[in-house]
Amino acid sequence: MFRFVPFVFLSHSLAAFAQDLGVPLTWREFSNSRLLAERISIAEDAINTILPQLDTSDAQFNGIGYWQSGNVFSAMANFDHLAGTTVYETQVVDGLSTAFDLYSNFDQYGVITTADASSGTQPNKDFAIAGTCFGESMAGGVFWRPTVDDTGINSITTGLFTTLSAFLAETTGDATYTNAAILSAQWIQNLQINTDGIVLDTVDGADCTRSPASWLFTYNTGKYLEGLSVLKDVTGNSAWTTLMTDIAAAAIKSSVWEGSNGIITEGASPTANNDGVGFKAIFIRGLDEVSVRSSDNSALQILIHSYNDVQYNALLELAANGTSYSSSWPGPPQAFTTWGQLAALDVMVTAINTNSP
Ligand SMILES: *[C@@H]1O[C@H](CO)[C@@H](O)[C@H](O)[C@H]1NC(C)=O
Repeated sequence: MFRFVPFVFLSHSLAAFAQDLGVPLTWREFSNSRLLAERISIAEDAINTILPQLDTSDAQFNGIGYWQSGNVFSAMANFDHLAGTTVYETQVVDGLSTAFDLYSNFDQYGVITTADASSGTQPNKDFAIAGTCFGESMAGGVFWRPTVDDTGINSITTGLFTTLSAFLAETTGDATYTNAAILSAQWIQNLQINTDGIVLDTVDGADCTRSPASWLFTYNTGKYLEGLSVLKDVTGNSAWTTLMTDIAAAAIKSSVWEGSNGIITEGASPTANNDGVGFKAIFIRGLDEVSVRSSDNSALQILIHSYNDVQYNALLELAANGTSYSSSWPGPPQAFTTWGQLAALDVMVTAINTNSP
């Protein structure tokens, strides 16, 4: 049985970051006039530039890690989806099959059920679970790691669970998935959104310690937005639409990861890979899904395509070396790196979609 968050609370909590969907005029080059065929060609060239790094024996790309490699495959699949092609279908299917064969236990992460929160226990963990933190139920939170004594519950894992559950609910119509999506979305809503509308990182599932307030990463907000966009369609509950819209507006304009020109500066790492390099790609991917599902809100769609155009134009004009791109989107260009290329793919693929014609 899930308890829906009272709308009064939602309105109250959102008052601090009411939405402004206007495009900031300080942004650098927030439009582009490239036609569809050119945008498809730019995205395809970007993908083809990373493909020589693919090791088909383990479905990973040289120079980046496992989850980053997964994001390359998702960009390839999304390319075909948006371009209406099957260019990468075989490689994506083969890659996923290989990865699933090698990592058969990939899904053994613990979700705190309402019953777990009440009892203070979780079947996959060997410590007492905090049933509430900061006055809110911990039900719906998803542990980051399967290790029995690892206590971290974070927003990216929970946001991924929301997104997966919402897509499964949409595909199957099964209320089990809908309720799981709602519960995990509520966990982030109740515990992990700061007063600026940005999603926080981690809460300790044993002692409720929260990650530093300065741990603000694009992907936490981006993946949550993707999940909310599907959840509002699955439930038809406009409270989720409002939350999604408010968070999107706040995140797109956040000074945490961009200057007044709008170019994302997070994860710029010319010489070495790290997890943070690919976060912004996940943010852009989430915004694309929000845009697709916001045909009733043209101001939001314009804001998203303008924001992506800022990133697109920066990559093409400030960070490009042929068809390879630096992880530093404000530039300068450099020689190819797998992580820089990965980070650029979602911008290129999204530009197929969010611009017209
Ligand atoms: C562009 O990439 C090539 C390698 O493909 C490299 O030799 C060259 O230095 C790069 N140019 C810049 C401006 O970094």
